[in-house]
Amino acid sequence: MSVSEAQIRDALKSVKYPGFTRDIVSFGLIKSVNIDNGDIKVQLALSTNDPNVPATIKNEAESALRAIEGIRSAKVLIDIHAPPGGAGTGIGATRIPGIKHVIAVASGKGGVGKSTVAANLAVALEQTGARVGLCDCDIYGPSISLMFGTRERPMATEENKIVPIEQYGLRLMSMGFLLDDASPAILRGPMVTRYTQQFLQQVEWGELDYLVLDLPPGTGDIQLTIVQTVALSGAIIVTTPQEVALIDARKAATMFDKVNVPVLGLVENMSYFLSPSDGKRYDIFGSGGGEREAKRLRVPLLGQIPIDIATREAGDHGVPIAGEDRQSPVSREFKKIAENLRKSLP
Ligand SMILES: Nc1ncnc2c1ncn2[C@@H]1O[C@H](COP(=O)(O)OP(=O)(O)OP(=O)(O)O)[C@@H](O)[C@H]1O
Ligand SMILES: [Mg+2]
Repeated sequence: MSVSEAQIRDALKSVKYPGFTRDIVSFGLIKSVNIDNGDIKVQLALSTNDPNVPATIKNEAESALRAIEGIRSAKVLIDIHAPPGGAGTGIGATRIPGIKHVIAVASGKGGVGKSTVAANLAVALEQTGARVGLCDCDIYGPSISLMFGTRERPMATEENKIVPIEQYGLRLMSMGFLLDDASPAILRGPMVTRYTQQFLQQVEWGELDYLVLDLPPGTGDIQLTIVQTVALSGAIIVTTPQEVALIDARKAATMFDKVNVPVLGLVENMSYFLSPSDGKRYDIFGSGGGEREAKRLRVPLLGQIPIDIATREAGDHGVPIAGEDRQSPVSREFKKIAENLRKSLP
């Protein structure tokens, strides 16, 4: 049995615009409907400054569509425009009121351990007695919600600000809290920029000593948007010791230079492996890469984090290692980095 466009529009009428009693069809948000046998693609367009709105609509619309008989898959794509006269366009980086220092954790290359470093650094900073927030800025692959074992949905205030989730004494915000597991954000180009800006500007952090931003991998538009939206105290670049990662670390350092954000230093992750059986050190990815690169960039090497099974496991089951086992070699390295950061950015 094939599905008709009328059936699809009918199903979408059950989805209300968040905060309103009107549905998204009567609001005129449907731009196009594409039916390919049982595979449905619906394109919506809306103008909002609130990142909650598209996320909620997307989730609800997709579940409404999946409930139609004969549907194999349902995808809802949302095009977001800024509301006319909306805030935030074209202005430079702004300070977030109430926050002393915003620190970005970046890397040119993916998968080198940015999120692991951001999460453990945030925990270690909190353990020094600071008030700390952590913001996952990766719209395509948010991972902080996983690393902190929470899928709680953030609440919004009456002024339409998003309230961060509290976990292990930290304030957390992640695109992962607003999006479905199964539906990676389907946003492209300028929409991503817009959405990321809105996201950054709309969280109600309260008073913080440090806000750690976990950036998505790369040195493209999104990264540039983030560093230009929020005034940063500095950036930490994560790299692994191999040359391919170091080249990308260099690109990241150049990007921060261009926008006058100081690079606070390098963290070399997966530096070496300590064999649990004989205590011997193995330099799996070679040695000295991080140190050489730090010298080249004339920035400090803030720390060297070994490859560690417990660190990976802790991240996967929702408690960063620095919170789970303060005595582990990895936790002690993060403690050292956090204490030095507190001195350089009091
Ligand atoms: N020092 C380490 N020891 C063992 N496993 C690690 C270490 N650092 C990171 N990992 C693991 O490597 C994987 C990638 O790490 P992570 O997600 O932190 O990288 P990322 O740079 O944030 O990736 P992406 O570029 O996708 O955002 C994760 O499974 C993580 O648990
Ligand atoms: Mg990451």
